[in-house]
Amino acid sequence: MIGNLDNLLNFTNDLFQRKELKPVLAQVAGVAQYLWDRGWAERNAGNFSINVTGFFQEKDFGHFASFPFFPLSKEYPGLVRTIFLVSGTGTRMRDMAHRPAENLCFVYISDSGSAFHILGDHREGDCVKPTSELVTHLAIQQQLLQKKSPEKVVLHAHVTELIALTQLAQFKSEEAVNSLLWSMHPETMLFLPDGVGFVPYTLARTEHIAASTLGKLKNHKAVLWEKHGCLAVGITLPDAFDTIDILAKSAKIYLLGKATGMEPEGLTPEQLKEIRESLSG
Ligand code: 13P
Ligand code: ZN
Repeated sequence: MIGNLDNLLNFTNDLFQRKELKPVLAQVAGVAQYLWDRGWAERNAGNFSINVTGFFQEKDFGHFASFPFFPLSKEYPGLVRTIFLVSGTGTRMRDMAHRPAENLCFVYISDSGSAFHILGDHREGDCVKPTSELVTHLAIQQQLLQKKSPEKVVLHAHVTELIALTQLAQFKSEEAVNSLLWSMHPETMLFLPDGVGFVPYTLARTEHIAASTLGKLKNHKAVLWEKHGCLAVGITLPDAFDTIDILAKSAKIYLLGKATGMEPEGLTPEQLKEIRESLSG
């Protein structure tokens, strides 16, 4: 049941005005702009979720159950009464950069863990709906909570350079793609010593891509989705963006080198070993 409309509207406005959220919204605007500027967010491409449960108090939660209710196809027992700030399906990152509140929604997972409430602006009887990749976001967010990970953010983007790599037959394996990405730039080994997971092409927006991605994130903080894009977890949205940016830089160096007609040399195994060893020193 939806509560008194005026109360809900005031409440929604208040949600976005909360002072704890200001820095988060500033990060959302900043990263959305980067994604658009890099060409990694054509049309409505890309999405993210941020666990903001810690910004609320138990006493707020009773109120949340009066917002519109949407069933989920699966139960997420580890997410009961958690709250996520989620990019809206169909929204553009270029709009998000200027007007984040209009392109986001708050998703509150119900007491049963098998539905969510949208704490959005219901003025027009309509509201911003969460990304169509919600099942992947929820599966990952649940795993992060279960592992007590510091990461609170999941970011998906259509990173041109990484998609291009996954179009090349020789890089369609985790081993091959990681050895290339590590060899192209020292920062990749420095910041992603565990490399990136590789998810073979799978239809997006499905439980299958969610499960495949979840498996890969046990050992990696980022995954490539063959012929689609990539996804990273991070402590903050800029942190997840940085991970993706580093991977994209390596891919770009390779593609630029190849475009000269020559074969990029890459860091040698000894140089890579030296970087790896410096990490544990
Ligand atoms: P949404 O607009 O539903 O978030 O979809 C964008 C996308 O990148 C799907 O993979
Ligand atoms: Zn996508």
